[in-house]
Amino acid sequence: MNAIPVITIDGPSGAGKGTVAQMLAARLDFHLLDSGAVYRAAALHALNSQADLADEASVVASLDTMKATFKPHSDGVQVFLNDRDVTASLRLETTAAAASQVAVMPRVRAAVLDEQRSFRKPPGLIADGRDMGTVVFPDATLKVFLSASVEVRAARRSKQLKDKGIETTMASLLQEIGARDERDSTREHAPLAAADDALIIDSSDSSVHEVVAEILAAIPTLNMAE
Ligand code: C5P
Repeated sequence: MNAIPVITIDGPSGAGKGTVAQMLAARLDFHLLDSGAVYRAAALHALNSQADLADEASVVASLDTMKATFKPHSDGVQVFLNDRDVTASLRLETTAAAASQVAVMPRVRAAVLDEQRSFRKPPGLIADGRDMGTVVFPDATLKVFLSASVEVRAARRSKQLKDKGIETTMASLLQEIGARDERDSTREHAPLAAADDALIIDSSDSSVHEVVAEILAAIPTLNMAE
């Protein structure tokens, strides 16, 4: 039994997990695991190594030469692949799509399991992903499943991209998010699903602050409610 507290925040892309996880980590002074970044780094490394993304053995073999470093950053996490800063490339939609492609592979998921668990250090961890509460930290102190309607998630994503000067259409975003949801939820290994004992929060009509307050109030022993 590991005594170091972990709060897991799982849910589909665009539900606000990243922002909520960052705010919680700052509030509690906990470490932060952005497990999506781990899958994105693995996918980018596989692409850079000319691995065949449709072939599990080829992707797994490429991981042998991967040295990924995750540094906490005011804006989430800064990621280095074999000492090169890849933070910007990691956020591209093409990398997200590649990540979701390699994330269906059980041997890839197994290969990144220890890396993810190594983030559990005192005083505690906020773990953001799809299977944090179900697979990676089944003994978590508190499991949250954060969701929002696909329309709200597409609108949030559109705003994020616009802020970065990237224009997209709502139709293409809805299509992209829908396709990623479908792949993440229907895959055989560690599909996106709420743990049986998860606190389910729908953030469609709530602000990030309201969601953070709800989670703080639900933490069993730390009693962090304001
Ligand atoms: O959260 P983010 O958009 O960065 O995740 C990218 C992709 O990585 C997801 O679409 C999903 O396929 C995969 N992923 C996963 N399990 C996690 C985190 C991310 O399969 N715990």
